[in-house]
Amino acid sequence: MAAAERTLAMIKPDGIEKGVIGDIIKRIEDASLKIVGIKMHHLKKSQVEGFYAVHKGKPFFNALCAFMSSGPSIAMVLEGDGAIANWREVMGATDPDKAAPGTVRSDFGTNVERNAVHGSDSPETAKFELSYFFDDNEIVTYEWV
Ligand code: GTP
Ligand code: MG
Repeated sequence: MAAAERTLAMIKPDGIEKGVIGDIIKRIEDASLKIVGIKMHHLKKSQVEGFYAVHKGKPFFNALCAFMSSGPSIAMVLEGDGAIANWREVMGATDPDKAAPGTVRSDFGTNVERNAVHGSDSPETAKFELSYFFDDNEIVTYEWV
């Protein structure tokens, strides 16, 4: 079994606007991903540019940053065995039209940009993304019974 790890998940502004926060969190818990940090914020464009810096220069970068700063979003620290890959699988492919049936993006996404959720794609990006939004003292510990 993969070692327990942490990943950064976000519910993007389109997910908030659609009123599916609870549906998405249900998918997270059903996948045995434990939420150990959570916050809601309305990101400034400059904050999004820093977060998605890896995509700087791509044709969709400006649109992506405008979208992600268009309304509130939720950032979460998810913890579990193989959390990074697990959450990516639960999210589904970037384009909701190509995402497998039953995935979050297939069920709640609108298009390749407004795709409801974000997830770190590697241990390195998870480390960067978690520290981008959370201080160590904002991450909690508890046991599921
Ligand atoms: P994230 O979990 O949000 O990082 O998605 P991802 O890892 O599945 O995709 P990627 O990192 O390649 O792209 C980051 C985000 O940019 C996507 O989730 C989309 O919101 C947006 N995006 C990606 N490709 C396109 C595109 O071709 N057009 C547009 N408009 N947006 C895109
Ligand atoms: Mg990505």
